[in-house]
Amino acid sequence: MSNEYGKGAPLSYNKYLKVPELLKLQETLSDPTSHDELLFIIIHQTYELWFKQLLHEFEKIKKDFSEGDLFGAIHSFKRTRTIMKVLVAQVDILETMTPSSFSSFRDRLETASGFQSIQFREIEFVLGYKRESTLKYVKPDFPGADRLQKRIGERTAIDHFYDFLETRGAKIPGELKNRDLKQANGPNEQVQQEILKLYKSSPEVSILFELMTDFDEGLQEWRYRHIKLVERTIGAKKGTGGSPGVPFLKESLFKPIFHDLWAIRHEM
Ligand code: HEM
Repeated sequence: MSNEYGKGAPLSYNKYLKVPELLKLQETLSDPTSHDELLFIIIHQTYELWFKQLLHEFEKIKKDFSEGDLFGAIHSFKRTRTIMKVLVAQVDILETMTPSSFSSFRDRLETASGFQSIQFREIEFVLGYKRESTLKYVKPDFPGADRLQKRIGERTAIDHFYDFLETRGAKIPGELKNRDLKQANGPNEQVQQEILKLYKSSPEVSILFELMTDFDEGLQEWRYRHIKLVERTIGAKKGTGGSPGVPFLKESLFKPIFHDLWAIRHEM
């Protein structure tokens, strides 16, 4: 069969990675083309690829947790933490775009916004930060909307973390094991006491706790950097996605994912 990789060609870098297809996916809309629009598209596409990888890692982490596989979970949290650092660092690149440069093509985005990123919302849901209110911005015909609907009713990485704690002898309150899965995971004092005990008795488990805290801090850092990026690029203008903009984004700022790991720092 003949294709753009050459007739019957053996596997090559370009064929394996589908590079020609990949390079066709950046379609600028501005006319005349605004120089920075390509950067804007590439940055967002790159984020989506990393979001895909993060979701992939969290599926593994859930399994590792339930199987009590400490080293598997440590390994994957190291990776997710490192990806978060790259996601935060990428903000620097987009911040080289000035407000006037963004204005030159912003209207072409119409209602498109990172707010509609299904994968970002999936990451929040898999991490137990579930807000049903966010679903109203996801139209049923958005690609992936069904995945999000499914995820809101699924056990989160934190529910699986409770399984892990049990494999290490912790007692998890029944109300957490039978909780309404559509709700966000919240803090729990008994879990905090169990984590404290493990911090003291099990240095290898404390490595995992610290990596989870690193990841969490990284996500909060990303939220902060994104808000600053938004403020410096569009100031008080409303978002294209239909949310109140910066006030909406500030709702999540400094909100931890792993509440119980943060709540006990002063007791160590
Ligand atoms: C010039 C650059 C950017 C501007 C002006 C901007 C602006 C905004 C605004 C105003 C919102 C609030 C929702 C709305 O649109 O009404 C938002 C949300 C969001 N943006 Fe951006 N953004 C920018 C870059 C990025 C980048 C590079 C990403 C990476 C994927 C991103 C991902 C998101 C996500 C995931 C949300 C939803 C956040 C949440 O629900 O907490 N944004 N953005």
